Amino acid sequence: MIRKQQMEIDNYEKVAVTPRFCYFKPKVMTNSTMAQEIAFSLSQKKKFISSKFFYDDVGSETFEKICDLPEYYLTRTEFEILDEIKSDLSEYLADNFALVELGSGSSVKTRKLLEILTCKQKDVEYYPVDISDILKDSSINLHDEYENLKITGIIDNYETGLEFIRTLDHTKKLVAFLGSSMGNFSPKEGMEFLEKIHESMSVGDMLLLGLDLVKDVKILESAYNDSSGITADFNCNLLLRLNKEFGANFDLTKFKHVAVFNKKHRRIEMYLKSLTKQHVFMPVIDLFLKFKKDELIHTEYSHKYTTSQIKKMTKRTGFRLVHMWNDKKNYFTMALFAVEK
Ligand SMILES: C[S@@+](CC[C@H](N)C(=O)[O-])C[C@H]1O[C@@H](n2cnc3c(N)ncnc32)[C@H](O)[C@@H]1O
Repeated sequence: MIRKQQMEIDNYEKVAVTPRFCYFKPKVMTNSTMAQEIAFSLSQKKKFISSKFFYDDVGSETFEKICDLPEYYLTRTEFEILDEIKSDLSEYLADNFALVELGSGSSVKTRKLLEILTCKQKDVEYYPVDISDILKDSSINLHDEYENLKITGIIDNYETGLEFIRTLDHTKKLVAFLGSSMGNFSPKEGMEFLEKIHESMSVGDMLLLGLDLVKDVKILESAYNDSSGITADFNCNLLLRLNKEFGANFDLTKFKHVAVFNKKHRRIEMYLKSLTKQHVFMPVIDLFLKFKKDELIHTEYSHKYTTSQIKKMTKRTGFRLVHMWNDKKNYFTMALFAVEK
């Protein structure tokens, strides 16, 4: 039986689940922040919804199904690379490292990193950061698997996670940002985000970044248009979430999932397309929306990188690129960066 101890720190509620697992969550419900963001983004000429809102309980569960799809090579490939490079990576992690993970999700890939750290170190500190409550279940699973693991979770956005990381006085940190999540940022935003990560790290810390590479358009597009329609469900769940949380009346039969590769910008673009001229009302945030036939709501970018682009980007962010490991097909890359004086 898990005993919950509540403790309040600044704007966060600390929930101590066990002596080895606690998490922090904002005291003010993130719902009001989401309401403001949604009211803004859906009132723009080109409507959009931030991809971070995909991940309510249903969205996080659906994303796990996506990871198992035959077309979705990303998870499988990144997992294989991590498995292959374990001994290489281990050489760079000679000292005691705390593991910080941005967008930890189900923490399945995390195990590959924990296999290295828990063997080398007597105790390992793990700091998962995720906007989704999935963090609680993922952490409990890890907690039960690794006896020498201490977990402090932050259920909030990446930026807050980075603020938290700054306060850690560990000798060294390994920051993992996996799953091609950086691809959700534009290259410029991505670079700025890498700079923020860099600022929150110290000399001797390392960053492990998983990025999807540019490849054949058919392979890319089928990864986001799977034959069983799970990615479409994932995308449409955004509208269901607005119906649930803001009393909206989106009719799911009148919207369609669209995912296309934009060659110029090297990115998958995901949209929800209005199949007809229609009106939608969201009473909770008092928002009235008009849609033209074929009008798009932009929901996600997934930028794909080239090796030379990653090298250039590194130079500008202050990191030193230590090593890059690709899979045999060159679908995906894991890049290890160091923070130096
Ligand atoms: C593409 S999934 C990747 C999950 C896992 N890292 C993996 O590689 O399978 C992105 C994860 O990041 C979280 N996430 C998305 N946007 C976020 C944000 N702005 N701040 C914090 N977490 C975010 C989601 O809840 C989700 O668990």
